Amino acid sequence: MIRVLSMDFKGSDFLSAKQLNRGDIELVMSYAHKLEPVAQKKKTSDLLHGKIMAALFYEPSTRTRMSFETAMQRLGGRTVSVVGMEFSSLSKGETLFDTGKVVENFADVVAMRHPKEGAIEELAGGCNVPVINAGDGAGEHPTQALLDIYTIHKEKGKVDGLTVAMVGDLKFGRTVHSLSLALSHFNDVELVFVSPEGLKMPEHVCRMLKEKGIVYKETESFQEGLERADVVYMTRVQQERFEVSEEYEKYRDLYILDEKIVHEINSEMIIMHPLPRIWEVKADVDQVPGAAYFRQVGNGVAVRMALLCLVLGVKV
Ligand code: NCD
Repeated sequence: MIRVLSMDFKGSDFLSAKQLNRGDIELVMSYAHKLEPVAQKKKTSDLLHGKIMAALFYEPSTRTRMSFETAMQRLGGRTVSVVGMEFSSLSKGETLFDTGKVVENFADVVAMRHPKEGAIEELAGGCNVPVINAGDGAGEHPTQALLDIYTIHKEKGKVDGLTVAMVGDLKFGRTVHSLSLALSHFNDVELVFVSPEGLKMPEHVCRMLKEKGIVYKETESFQEGLERADVVYMTRVQQERFEVSEEYEKYRDLYILDEKIVHEINSEMIIMHPLPRIWEVKADVDQVPGAAYFRQVGNGVAVRMALLCLVLGVKV
């Protein structure tokens, strides 16, 4: 069920960044901070001993699934998984609702990815244990938003008052939808959306930002986005969401960040990317001090540990 969590995660599904308020985000961050030594392999923990997480991944994933499984297992829990639609009962025609009813018999918590927007909610409707959205089509990716905010906070020491430029495929990129919604709870945050006309941030996200009084600007100019940014959030053009490949090819090379551009335009900003990067961030950016994308991956484990503990009602 979709409802604002209001610091009460126990037993709840986490399907959308719309469920978060500032207190929720801060609670996740404080748990993640405490769990970091475990995530970083410096300490061991048995907090989730005896619990099982089902990973249902019906769409490609490396980081997100491994990050969830690592989080669970480093806290002493276990995982069972289904990877790929073709190996699941969904390919035989089972409904998502029924799959949910089945999985609740096996697991204490479910992390799920699916190519269709809204599919996770459908499964959650039939499932009596907490279901976490690990990416639904071009919809949302709310756990990524939490780890992104945790990363911004670690890198910059704050989130309030920052200007965040999101660049690339803002239409199909689910990470930027969830991140925009989650950032709307911080004070004096400014968003700059850099994309071509055909890949603009969806109207429903913009509407929500307007309702919250968040200042955002839409531009096609990479230069303008970079100049103003404390944080630049690069994204991959989501090839798999295009019906015709010429459309994808038209967009894929529009915004490419390299070391020279960073030095010429803004060497103070931190550079984030949910990964995988294709060519929109060149490898020579990796040596720039602000390049935070690999640190971002590491932060994901601590944040998912925090979330798992919260929905399972385990105090940290
Ligand atoms: C993103 C996703 O799957 O939405 N990756 C991730 O989870 N870290 C971004 C992408 O695929 O471009």
